[in-house]
Amino acid sequence: TGKFTYDPGFLSTASCNSTITYIDGDKGELLYRGYPIEQLAQNCNYLETCYLLLKGELPNQKERDDFTKLVTNHTMVNEQMQFFLRGFRRDAHPMAIMTGLVGALSAFYHDSTDIHNAEHREISAIRLIAKMPTLVAMAYKYTIGQPYIYPKNDLTYAGNFMRMMFATPCEEYTPNEVLVRAMDRIFILHADHEQNASTSTVRLCGSSGTNPFAAIAAGVACLWGPAHGGANEAALNMLEDVHRMGGVEKIGEFVRQVKDKSSGIKLMGFGHRVYKNYDPRAKLMRETCHEVLDTLGLHDDPIFKLAMSLEKIALEDEYFVARKLYPNVDFYSGIVQRAIGIPVSLFTAVFALARTVGWIAQLNEMIADPEYKIGRPRQLYTGATARTLKPIEQRG
Ligand code: CMC
Repeated sequence: TGKFTYDPGFLSTASCNSTITYIDGDKGELLYRGYPIEQLAQNCNYLETCYLLLKGELPNQKERDDFTKLVTNHTMVNEQMQFFLRGFRRDAHPMAIMTGLVGALSAFYHDSTDIHNAEHREISAIRLIAKMPTLVAMAYKYTIGQPYIYPKNDLTYAGNFMRMMFATPCEEYTPNEVLVRAMDRIFILHADHEQNASTSTVRLCGSSGTNPFAAIAAGVACLWGPAHGGANEAALNMLEDVHRMGGVEKIGEFVRQVKDKSSGIKLMGFGHRVYKNYDPRAKLMRETCHEVLDTLGLHDDPIFKLAMSLEKIALEDEYFVARKLYPNVDFYSGIVQRAIGIPVSLFTAVFALARTVGWIAQLNEMIADPEYKIGRPRQLYTGATARTLKPIEQRG
């Protein structure tokens, strides 16, 4: 006691050195390996972004083609996985299923479970990136009782995911290009975000020397919470609640409830631990949101109108301005996903799919660091001092 610094919520503790992602929360700046997120979202696809995060440099044409081929070679999952999946209730939350399925990969791919072996780490990285869309789509198809759709490797990463989600054996699904681009952008914007709760979880879990699939499953579990990846689902549920309360006319009343701390209600999709200026991902997602709604002719959608009014009111309200609470990426990504046809309960699983590459890049960086040690925070003990126990008959 006295030797350790008390820092609840890690507000001022750096847990590692990292070369992957840079955030300047005051300027609203986000860089992956030095490249501004705006440039990546504009010029690269998700697999190029994965390559960048994993290897530190953007791929040239040949490297991109080889990497894409490598990933697409691993998109199928062991056929036995479907029997594991069948053990879940049909109404299980997709994140419960994903936590299980991702952890279960370690039982299927024994040749890539040694976290201290660079080759194992490399192949498990490719397997995870390749199989996440397949697993998310399987979880979805299972909960709606439809047959799984196998991956189709001549499609793009995002296009293949959407086909596995929405095609059936009776009817092909030809994804609209604007929607595929929007999906790909959601993936890019969620690919990494330095030492957030789930990434720190993955690092801590991996620091014990567990296998990469288990470490990523821990990240999925952490992401599930509404203060983190669950915010996109919570934001959409909140909009639907306000819609049921009476819609745009009830926003004032709803915002009053949020400002009354005793209500315990937060404006989901608003605020960020690091961004005290606008979340740069939110700016890009907002742009995509308008593009998708234009394409689908959905600008009159009541939930979207509600979101836009809520955004306007919150951005002008003293409570939110004083606390620097701006919409974050999840405020808009939920609206985009809903427009694409992704059910609300699957939003966080889509986030997990996209973040997998970031988790792996961070895990690899930690393991490759010669100074890495098992993560073992200390505590300030505030309990009883040493005392002598009494026989049970003498206890009060
Ligand atoms: N609605 C209303 N009040 C809020 C909100 C909100 N969404 N967020 C923060 N506040 C208030 C909070 O009550 C506190 O007020 P006061 O100073 O009077 O006590 C002040 O703003 C500072 O908040 P904090 O809780 O100290 O901030 P934090 O850095 O600990 O929390 C956060 C950050 C993201 C957990 C929080 O803003 C939040 O719960 N937001 C809603 C959930 C959400 O959208 N999360 C997604 C984050 S982005 C995606 C991701 O990284 O996963």
